[in-house]
Amino acid sequence: MSPSLTSPTGRFISFEGIDGAGKTSHLSEMQRQLTEAGLDIVRTREPGGTPLAEKLRELVLHEAMGPLTETLLVFAARRDHLEQVIEPALARGAWVLTDRFTDATFAYQGGGRGFDQNVLNTLEQWVQDGRQPDLTFLFDLPPEVAAQRLVQARQPDRFEAQDRAFFERVRSAYQQRVQAQPQRFALIDASRTPHEVGEQVQQALQARGWL
Ligand code: TYD
Repeated sequence: MSPSLTSPTGRFISFEGIDGAGKTSHLSEMQRQLTEAGLDIVRTREPGGTPLAEKLRELVLHEAMGPLTETLLVFAARRDHLEQVIEPALARGAWVLTDRFTDATFAYQGGGRGFDQNVLNTLEQWVQDGRQPDLTFLFDLPPEVAAQRLVQARQPDRFEAQDRAFFERVRSAYQQRVQAQPQRFALIDASRTPHEVGEQVQQALQARGWL
């Protein structure tokens, strides 16, 4: 085990991408690998991660509402998630792996719904008080490829039911986040085979000396 893996410093890693990008299976693989290496791993997701935030998730994914309401609910869920799960875990030195975080809000509410970016910036500051992931994997691929992968998926939620143009906007809003904060992101070509995608993920960890 490398010294960096035994470090008491927790790390905060988020997994992002359009629906159908395959991020969740790579998150599971990293969780398995890091747990095997003896690390304290907290796996979580957004919207969700606490009993209250999971209730908000149900509303956001399944109830009709306007973009402002939707945005406030995802940030309300995030605040509870930070207070109850993320901050305590990082404080004790755990690694937090989250299936989505605030980049998803900029991508889906900002890009997809066209919600005001300046308001998102303000809410991000209020809710997160400076907290940002140490590393964000962006699983990037064309929406038409993602849509093919989702064909056999279960009943679509309010986001999965959106059209191609929505996901093009989501994808480009994610790419803008990468351009604005390139050092935080590992951009993954998710159109490759699962094995090749896994290798890109490993390389990103190795490049940071975390594996
Ligand atoms: P997702 O993470 O894809 O979970 P599952 O694999 O169970 O479908 O679903 C969450 C959905 O919520 C996804 O379509 C993106 C959306 N979302 C937002 O619109 N804004 C946000 O801030 C977050 C975190 C997610």
